[in-house]
Amino acid sequence: MEALIGIDKKHKTEISDALNIVLADQHILYIKLRNYHWNIEGNSFLELHEFLEKLYVSLEKDIDATAERIRKIGKNPMGSAAEFLEFTNLKETKKPYHDSHKILSTLLEDYEVIIKWIRDHVELAGDSKDYGTEDFMVGLIRNYEEAAWMLRAYLTK
Ligand SMILES: [Fe+2]
Repeated sequence: MEALIGIDKKHKTEISDALNIVLADQHILYIKLRNYHWNIEGNSFLELHEFLEKLYVSLEKDIDATAERIRKIGKNPMGSAAEFLEFTNLKETKKPYHDSHKILSTLLEDYEVIIKWIRDHVELAGDSKDYGTEDFMVGLIRNYEEAAWMLRAYLTK
């Protein structure tokens, strides 16, 4: 059934396409966080192992909220690994690596890519009076800016 919430059809398509790319990035980042949580090594092992868990637990909530946001505007979230890989802005880690500095810098870059990408698309929602999605996207920016801040703090010598 059509969602009659005062948002035009063209916008629903455009904004759900944008949110689906966010969803793809979130999934790839989630997999990377799990990978690094398992493989990270070094003298701060336990702290970083737990920090990465905290990040992926928080991201898991965002993944669900992003997919459900797409449903709330009457569109369909992607749901296959092949689609996530095709549409993501991020690069997967092929070989496992263990160096904590490399892991944290890779994650910082990924969060920064996602933050910038969402920031560049928030206007799309605001311009079409899709304030629910605009507010949701701003919330994601806030979450990922916090993660980026924590990663940056670890990397500052
Ligand atoms: Fe674990």
